[in-house]
Amino acid sequence: MQYTQVVDSRHSCRSFSDAPVSRQQVEQIAALAGKAPSWGNTQPWKLYAVGGGKAEEIRRRLVDAMRSGRPQEPDITMPMGFEEGMAQRYKNLGRSLFKALEIGREDAEKRAAHYANNFGAFGAPCLLLVTVPKEQTSYAVFDAGAFVHGLCLAASSLGLGTVILAALARFPDEVRAVVPIPANEDMVIGVALGHPNPEAPANLFRSQRRPLEETLTIFDL
Ligand SMILES: Cc1cc2nc3c(=O)[nH]c(=O)nc-3n(C[C@H](O)[C@H](O)[C@H](O)COP(=O)(O)O)c2cc1C
Repeated sequence: MQYTQVVDSRHSCRSFSDAPVSRQQVEQIAALAGKAPSWGNTQPWKLYAVGGGKAEEIRRRLVDAMRSGRPQEPDITMPMGFEEGMAQRYKNLGRSLFKALEIGREDAEKRAAHYANNFGAFGAPCLLLVTVPKEQTSYAVFDAGAFVHGLCLAASSLGLGTVILAALARFPDEVRAVVPIPANEDMVIGVALGHPNPEAPANLFRSQRRPLEETLTIFDL
């Protein structure tokens, strides 16, 4: 696949089949993503790939933790609000996704089920958990972001689906209860990986992008 095709084919996948992901696929994806640039080639990321019964247990624990209503304790502070433009785009995403999923504004039950689905990684058979060493600057998270995008693009080039999920990093103690992620690493984010259900409405949905004029300023070109 050409680079442009890979970039165009990647989108957040929010419905996965039960088909497992192989160890070889994960290794291939991790090796490609590992080509990401980083500050001074420090490569601060670590990747924990979890499948099988352990992935199932993490998904179950995270859904239970979310439903319990106990406070979320992510290793890295997550945003609680956004400046105006960002807030508008955040709202638009929620509205248009719910419309595509035919979840009504007043349908509290379906909304709660969708929210729980986030924590259940939309049924993905493989969970990718990305960490950086504790007490690093924001640039380690910046580098991890490049790595995570690489994971998603590499998966897409193999016909696999991904969705980056903050939901997987909101209760890191539940994840650590299943897989031994060291306490001296911060869990930055999780990624759900698996085989997409191509016809699922959630997977036919596409998010919008800002017009280029809003984000690009060119001088002297
Ligand atoms: C840091 C980060 C956290 C995210 N967390 C979630 C999440 O918890 N649930 C979800 O459904 N999507 C999540 N997403 C996916 C975004 O909603 C998605 O990337 C964005 O809407 C753009 O759509 P696209 O990925 O289909 O291009 C997250 C993405 C990023 C980069």
